[in-house]
Amino acid sequence: MAEDLHITTGTKEELYQSLIPQINALIEGESDAIANLANICAALKEQFNWLWVGFYIVKPNEKGEDELVLGPFQGPVACTRIKKGRGVCGAAWQQAVTLIVPDVEKFPGHITCSSLSKSEIVVPVFTNGIVTAVLDVDSELLNRFDEIDKRYLEEIIMSL
Ligand code: SME
Repeated sequence: MAEDLHITTGTKEELYQSLIPQINALIEGESDAIANLANICAALKEQFNWLWVGFYIVKPNEKGEDELVLGPFQGPVACTRIKKGRGVCGAAWQQAVTLIVPDVEKFPGHITCSSLSKSEIVVPVFTNGIVTAVLDVDSELLNRFDEIDKRYLEEIIMSL
């Protein structure tokens, strides 16, 4: 069992380690944020085949209140707007920390975009110390995300 875990862990790290230079090559020299976010989603989806991977971007609504608004993503259609503190994405934004949710049904206020989603990780994107977007990843498997995903996804986000 320990060896299986070791192999699985190593494989996941290798997948990230091979992907990060590709992502850096894709986005370096390109200043258009939406293009870069879109390519990051595509690269992650290709590598890991998660159910859903995408960005929600902090933007003011018509009342001038900041909300998360759906940005570039790969996967099934998703909810368009999320208020601060709502769901996993809104909580990660409010707390300005990465949230790993092993079982979405046990997360109070989880927003169900797809009934297939079982576990989730949300990583805030910072600009000058302020959360300006979040990266959200959903899996059809329970307990799919761990500290390895957190470390590498945060590294990918830092290059933005
Ligand atoms: N489940 C998220 C909402 C976004 S979708 O999963 C794409 C949440 O609770 O914030």
